[in-house]
Amino acid sequence: MSFLRWFLLLIGVNQAVFVSSFAQQNINQKVDSVLRLMTLDEKIGQLNQYSSYWATGPVSQETDKLKEIKEGKVGSLLNVRGADKTRALQEVAMQSRLRIPLLFGMDVIHGYKTTFPIPLAEAASWDMNWIRNSARVAATEAAAAGIHWTFAPMVDISRDPRWGRVMEGAGEDTYLCSQIAKARVIGFQGTATGNYDEVMACVKHFACYGAAIGGRDYNNVDMSERMLWETYLPPFKAAIDAGAATVMNAFNDLNGIPSTANTYLVREILKDKWKFDGFVVSDWGSITEMIPHGFVVNKQQASQYAIIAGCDMDMEGRAYISGLKQLVEDKIISKGLIDDAVRRILRKKFEWGLFDDPFRFCQPDRENKAINNENNRFLAREVAKRSIVLLKNQHNILPLSGNQKIAIVGPLAKSKRDMLGAWNVNWDNNEDVVSPYEGINTIVDNEKIVYAKGCEVNDSIKTGFAQAIKVAKRADVIVCFVGENANMSGEARSRANLQLPGVQEELIKRLSKLGKPIVVVISAGRPLVFNWVSNNVPAILYAWWLGSEAGNAIADVLFGKYNPSAKLPITFPKSEGQIPIYYNYNNTGRPDTGDPKQRGYHTGYIDLSKEPQYPFGFGLSYTNFEYADLKMSTNEFGINDSIRVSFSIKNTGQMQGEEIAQFFIRDKVASLIRPVKELKWFTKIPLKPGEKHTVTFNITPEMLSFYNNQLQKVTEPGDFEIMIGASSSDIKLKSLITFK
Ligand code: NOJ
Repeated sequence: MSFLRWFLLLIGVNQAVFVSSFAQQNINQKVDSVLRLMTLDEKIGQLNQYSSYWATGPVSQETDKLKEIKEGKVGSLLNVRGADKTRALQEVAMQSRLRIPLLFGMDVIHGYKTTFPIPLAEAASWDMNWIRNSARVAATEAAAAGIHWTFAPMVDISRDPRWGRVMEGAGEDTYLCSQIAKARVIGFQGTATGNYDEVMACVKHFACYGAAIGGRDYNNVDMSERMLWETYLPPFKAAIDAGAATVMNAFNDLNGIPSTANTYLVREILKDKWKFDGFVVSDWGSITEMIPHGFVVNKQQASQYAIIAGCDMDMEGRAYISGLKQLVEDKIISKGLIDDAVRRILRKKFEWGLFDDPFRFCQPDRENKAINNENNRFLAREVAKRSIVLLKNQHNILPLSGNQKIAIVGPLAKSKRDMLGAWNVNWDNNEDVVSPYEGINTIVDNEKIVYAKGCEVNDSIKTGFAQAIKVAKRADVIVCFVGENANMSGEARSRANLQLPGVQEELIKRLSKLGKPIVVVISAGRPLVFNWVSNNVPAILYAWWLGSEAGNAIADVLFGKYNPSAKLPITFPKSEGQIPIYYNYNNTGRPDTGDPKQRGYHTGYIDLSKEPQYPFGFGLSYTNFEYADLKMSTNEFGINDSIRVSFSIKNTGQMQGEEIAQFFIRDKVASLIRPVKELKWFTKIPLKPGEKHTVTFNITPEMLSFYNNQLQKVTEPGDFEIMIGASSSDIKLKSLITFK
């Protein structure tokens, strides 16, 4: 049914007269024409979203959802899986008086059925093309199953690996995270014209969810406005500029005001200043949760505050559906406020073509072809191998030759479910996930492999150690798969202790005593603390949670079919006591200079260095890169100029590889204390052995700017150190420039 037919059917207008002029009307006019037909109840219904048959949060109340859909009291559903189910529910919506189609949303965070690496892992690739591709595949699969809308990307900066949701973001750096936000929005939304393989993005969680005190999920955030603007808001702005259709509120309060009722954040910044014309959805129940939060007395007041602040849709909170009508009738809120929210939602339904054909997304035939097909699996493997970080490779133990006898050990060696990580579309059957064991086994014959589990991920039983040691004795090299279970990072999965869980480290210690070469592969959703392994094991790969093709990607790297190129998007601490830890900290008046005359009076700890175990931007390769020939068009420039910079990178090793070169600046003296380093640009260069490439880029005044205390973006005159490095702590080239 086309929109036109839909409309004419409802209002009984003479088709012939109406068609030609109507066809020329733009979406806003169409939206208004629908709005005029709606009762207040139907309008409020559009602002109401329920979860379907499975839940991704606490369900407060069960009601007869089908009846409510028929009554026009539901605008959107989340968590409906599959073309047949979305179609069936859309058919129910077509029985409502106005036949307004439902929007189906879902957390398609890193893939639908074909699961890609968790976002933090993908961020380690620093590869915008692959990240965009990954989102594209996720969109294609989800859209074929009837999903119009994904609750991604999460663009929350986090400097705290205790927070379980670091896995869902792009790490600690504002610039890198902004680039990724843009790539993912474009990947999900494609042309954003409602093609049937494009889903709406939802940028979340607005705002500062990643800055929860103590890394405890949902916790309060207390932050200066300057830090908000400089560090936490830019990735949201980048996503909005890339055309993100929707935004989600955060659970946390910001300086005492819950994000869901935060007029400053949502109404003033997002909708007024940034001119965001999409709609805002609450987080799961976050409107109602303002009651226990201690901000409102009841659902009605919660609705009042949320709608005034600019939250357009209530996700599973059942506050709007029960509270808004009375507020309008009592003239506490205006009808215009409701109309604005409804308009925003209807506009998206039009843009995604749902008034033309409410069933265009739920096509079982297309679903069969699109989901988990060979091409998607190929792409998932490409992204996964680019996400693995080589942390250590003493004596070039890696890559393995494939001729050695390998002992595959560890609780994650044969795991499938854990490879998918925390957010995946709750598939019951994980058989088609490639485990690390299977990945290795496709390269190395059975007779060259021995296996023992050794222990579980997270318990204290060591009885499996003996068998692990026995099989390891028969091998030339030991590859040990350890880390976190899929349920140890993610929402509500904050951890105070970031050590390798259970007795895994002890298993590695015992295996190390055999004196054989040993490689440890760590799969986890966050940076873990594994100092003994770092100090004593010769080769370490950080494999995060890599998705459906995890095992193949790991094998590609282990055997040198792919030379690892990823670099850490987040700092790895030596101890939980160092958290929050991040590379772009502000200096103090007493930085640690290493000079004994300081006699310990510096900004550090008496019992541990302040340095991380692995810094932001760090990652090794099987080859080596040499940085040289730094040249600049000038060392001084002004507001209308830029400096042309060039430098060379040469692959001085034996293997083809890719290098991620990072450009940092430091404002030497400013009216506000500035970070010791800030990432402002990066590039990823593929190089054959012996090949040299000249990289060029511009330094612009914008790169030197920052928010002053009046929240104005300024570039102050003075000297700036510029640094080009292989990581934030491995600076290869530097110079000084002056801004006049
Ligand atoms: C709560 C999470 O915070 C949010 O990110 C997610 O999209 C919703 N639940 C829906 O599952």
